[in-house]
Amino acid sequence: MLLKLSILKETNEGETRVAIVPKSIAKLQKLGFQVSIQSDAGAQASFTDEEYKNAGATIYSTLQDSIENADLIVKINPPSAEDLKHLKKGQTWLSQLFHRLNDDLINALKTKGVSAFSLDAMPRISRAQSMDVLSSQSNLSGYKAVIAGAEHSSKIFPMLMTAAGTITPSRVLIFGVGVAGLQAIATAKRLGAIVEATDVRLECKEQTESLGAKFLTVEDDGVKVEGGYAQEVTPEYLAKQKEVVNKSLAQADIVITTALVQGAKAPVLISKEQIELMKNGSVIIDMAVAKGGNTALSKADEIVFHQGVKIVGISNFPAQLPTNASELLSRNVDTFLSHIVEDGAFKWDMEDEITRETLIINNTNN
Ligand code: NAI
Repeated sequence: MLLKLSILKETNEGETRVAIVPKSIAKLQKLGFQVSIQSDAGAQASFTDEEYKNAGATIYSTLQDSIENADLIVKINPPSAEDLKHLKKGQTWLSQLFHRLNDDLINALKTKGVSAFSLDAMPRISRAQSMDVLSSQSNLSGYKAVIAGAEHSSKIFPMLMTAAGTITPSRVLIFGVGVAGLQAIATAKRLGAIVEATDVRLECKEQTESLGAKFLTVEDDGVKVEGGYAQEVTPEYLAKQKEVVNKSLAQADIVITTALVQGAKAPVLISKEQIELMKNGSVIIDMAVAKGGNTALSKADEIVFHQGVKIVGISNFPAQLPTNASELLSRNVDTFLSHIVEDGAFKWDMEDEITRETLIINNTNN
């Protein structure tokens, strides 16, 4: 059997990545896929139509042809209104759907009669790690956030002893020691900064210290972690956290915030009053800005100045590293597909946790 797979060109503003790179095509063909791609889908990530063609993919010049000639349609971002128009009953959609926050979209897909997998619904279990797009993209984002911090700062990271005097190292404070936070710690350390970090999950202390940074512990046992995700914390916890971090905030040159709570808005960890404690010339890079932001003043894809502090909100860091981000995404997607497809047919194995959790809309009889 053969399954026809189409890779769509991303249409979200500022999106530069592509879901599948040419290197994955041979693997997909072995699984029983006949692969096609919408023309120029990889262009901004430096993958040409020629490379896809040489790898064995058919190139379609229109969105309509791409969708209509597919059993499985693959994209990074949720379907656009235009994508929805061309979808038809019996097809399968694969992308991030953020289904808990997107009721209208899920209903629209249901009405179309398609089945839909959501990449961001991957369970946080070890065997799904290689399929986890949130992890692979957060890792790159953590790196890029530090580079953005360095660019926006008027100071260097390392200590420098010169004939003209000694420069003290920058102080970096990181909120949230998940995948992005850990990479941010490692990157800031490599550049020579003094790094501190805090997280609601106490197991992060050891990980932070193993990278040579200091962990700021908030004494509280009220934080629940479910399926690898931190849950919302109480106002009491946030008050204690403020006490613990305020001294470090006042000394920091660069603050990077990465704290997320699944299916909810990002927690506000830095109030306007706390920003006012910060030094003139200091910089906040808010990585949670697409989910509302970790500071009271952050704005998506804007730079806000408040009493000498620069608050930079970048909503899509991976799109600033499209080649590497697409390579990792593509590996996540081809590994996921090798899990759910065999000999050119979907397995629809509802006993399997990975299939069950990611299949948000099931229009099959399985
Ligand atoms: P995330 O992106 O959901 O959140 C980022 C960080 O913010 C987390 O460490 C979270 O604890 C922290 N946070 C939330 N609320 C906070 C608050 N009020 N104050 C301070 N920090 C707060 O998390 P991420 O990076 O995706 O992963 C978290 C954990 O899950 C990691 O240990 C990671 O290794 C694990 N994980 C496991 C996977 C697997 O086994 N397949 C896949 C992805 C993550």
